[in-house]
Amino acid sequence: MSDIIAQLEVKRAEAMLGGGQKRIDSQHAKGKLTARERIEILLDEGSFEEIDMYVEHNCVDFGMEETKIAGDGVVTGSGTINGRLIFVFSQDFTVFGGSLSERHAEKICKILENAMKVGAPVIGINDSGGARIQEGVASLGGYADVFQRNVLASGVVPQLSLIMGPCAGGAVYSPAMTDFIFMVKDSSYMFVTGPDVVKTVTNEIVTQEELGGAVTHTTKTSVADVAYENDIEALLAARDFIDYMPLSNREEVPERPTADPWDRLEESLDTLIPANANQPYDMHEVIRKMVDEGEFFEIQPAHADNIICGFGRMEGSTVGVVANQPMVLAGCLDINASKKAARFVRYCDAFNIPIVTLVDVPGFLPGTSQEHNGIIKHGAKLLFAYAEATVPKITIITRKAYGGAYDVMASKHLRGDLNYAWPTAEIAVMGAKGAVEIIFRGKTTEEIAEHTAEYEARFANPFIAAQKGFIDEVIMPHSTRRRVALGLRKLRNKQLENPWKKHDNIPL
Ligand code: HXC
Repeated sequence: MSDIIAQLEVKRAEAMLGGGQKRIDSQHAKGKLTARERIEILLDEGSFEEIDMYVEHNCVDFGMEETKIAGDGVVTGSGTINGRLIFVFSQDFTVFGGSLSERHAEKICKILENAMKVGAPVIGINDSGGARIQEGVASLGGYADVFQRNVLASGVVPQLSLIMGPCAGGAVYSPAMTDFIFMVKDSSYMFVTGPDVVKTVTNEIVTQEELGGAVTHTTKTSVADVAYENDIEALLAARDFIDYMPLSNREEVPERPTADPWDRLEESLDTLIPANANQPYDMHEVIRKMVDEGEFFEIQPAHADNIICGFGRMEGSTVGVVANQPMVLAGCLDINASKKAARFVRYCDAFNIPIVTLVDVPGFLPGTSQEHNGIIKHGAKLLFAYAEATVPKITIITRKAYGGAYDVMASKHLRGDLNYAWPTAEIAVMGAKGAVEIIFRGKTTEEIAEHTAEYEARFANPFIAAQKGFIDEVIMPHSTRRRVALGLRKLRNKQLENPWKKHDNIPL
């Protein structure tokens, strides 16, 4: 018996070494952790239970039958983050460059299936040279098997991808179908075809970093959500992030005890809005003063920052916050902002996360660039997302809510549950000057100025909307947290269902 146990220990130790010490050293030299080191940081200490440690590839071409490494390039299993169950797979670059074989794919599929069965999030750590070249089509099939499970798991359990090394070719499409992607600066990249192919086909000379590094994907493309300086920072952020998430679409959002009083008043918000309507202010201040302990996990902070999306807590429970940012493009909705917020709203709705919307929006961004690139279709995404969402929706208009953007931003007409306005709110078809120039075309400058003042006096306030019941209450800015907390409490048992359908047809 003791012999057998000793043999098992040896087998385990071999498997733990993956592709060997030399390759582990080379991984460290690149500033990267190994697959197992990453899992150790990600999960609660000692909580990881590995499965399929002895799985080997089944390839017999190119002398592969001579080189079998236990685990076949991916470490899989489950553990906990702050005591809550999480499934994880972590590709091991020291084993055939973390490339995906048929068996490697089967291990990932098993994790996704197990997670769906019991209802727990999946975190995938990607560090891979793509399809296992020696296996050919078997590996491509393996990828498709993973894609299929990513899609089935979408909206059932939260899926987070951490990109911590190369992620090329079709390999990018598994992370792309998960809910959120975190990348590491200077050591991770994602592209469909690498710099060499790009040069051959288009003659462009571009580095890996420029083509698909963390900065490119978190600023320009929005393929990824947040970029971190190194593996450890990204893994710790993933722990924080998961703390906001329900385990599945069948669960309520998690609750975390907080010492922050639910009725904390923030007098400083009463003077936040500048006297001049064209002067910006930082909407982050409203968010941080509203949520528990000022803690806010922002999604895509470096992309389309004319809209802010992220997670906070109210009375310990997760909320999704969407907010126009007057500091960037005056808070206008453009294509990128609409796409960013639409996906965020849909995620919240899929996972029972109430949405708090803070509105200061002068409208959709005008211009040929926006029109010719399809602002109609992309703006419709956000409109669609808010309109279909059945989770509790609380909206606060702090200043401008003009035109179509008023409708879009979780208005009463899109089944907003509680629609509040600060006394500084201006709810109108458009800004006073623009409106008057259209209605009183041809009038003198003096007359225009007079009518503008008249229009402002009549419409630059929340009361016309309030008279019609489109605004439930005009609230004092300092009581925002209190009103939102109270509202969420009352909406806890909200029941609302959309008509049965196979699925909707959101404008893609
Ligand atoms: C098998 C691979 C591999 C792969 C790397 N290796 N990629 N083995 N299949 N796809 C092995 C290498 O042979 C090497 O083995 C070890 O991993 C480390 O690789 P290096 O090249 O030494 O590392 P590095 O210099 O860091 O370069 C990493 C890399 C490069 C940029 C990822 O290895 C690379 O370009 N690999 C090929 C990428 C690729 O074209 N993949 C297929 C994409 S097509 P030893 O034994 O020397 O340590 C695809 C289609 C999917 O993925 C479609 C799905 C729909």
